[in-house]
Amino acid sequence: MTISGTSRDALIAAARTAMDSAYAPYSGFHVGAALLFEDGAIITGANVENASYGLSLCAETVACAIAAHAGRRGGLVAVAVLGGPAGRIDSAITPCGRCRQVLHEIAALGGTDPVVLCIGPKEVLETRLSVLLPDAFGPTQLG
Ligand code: THU
Repeated sequence: MTISGTSRDALIAAARTAMDSAYAPYSGFHVGAALLFEDGAIITGANVENASYGLSLCAETVACAIAAHAGRRGGLVAVAVLGGPAGRIDSAITPCGRCRQVLHEIAALGGTDPVVLCIGPKEVLETRLSVLLPDAFGPTQLG
């Protein structure tokens, strides 16, 4: 599925706004993520760090948890992610490995292969979740 230019712009703007809510006192690296669903809804998240560093949550994972809690079980058509030191966008960032798996869960439930927009200072790296996480393990493997 492709997304319109308007949806794409709204999704990128939402990720940017979400980044302002990052709680990242340890890394200083602020990340925002936004998920676009088939019905046009956008759900956002930002990274939430912890004094026990390894417990920190990435922006994409937070967004997926909020979406699941809101009852979303599929319908994920696009993801936007951006971040940088103190929120300065120096380069496009791609979702970490764990987030790719977390995103796959909600995508697989609805049988979609979301567009992933990795937002840089000028350029946008546009890819697909299946490219970032080929041959993924997911809910279908569990019957
Ligand atoms: N981070 C994300 O929020 N998403 C990613 O995909 C990569 C990394 C966060 C985790 C941590 O709070 C900070 O960025 C530095 O790794």
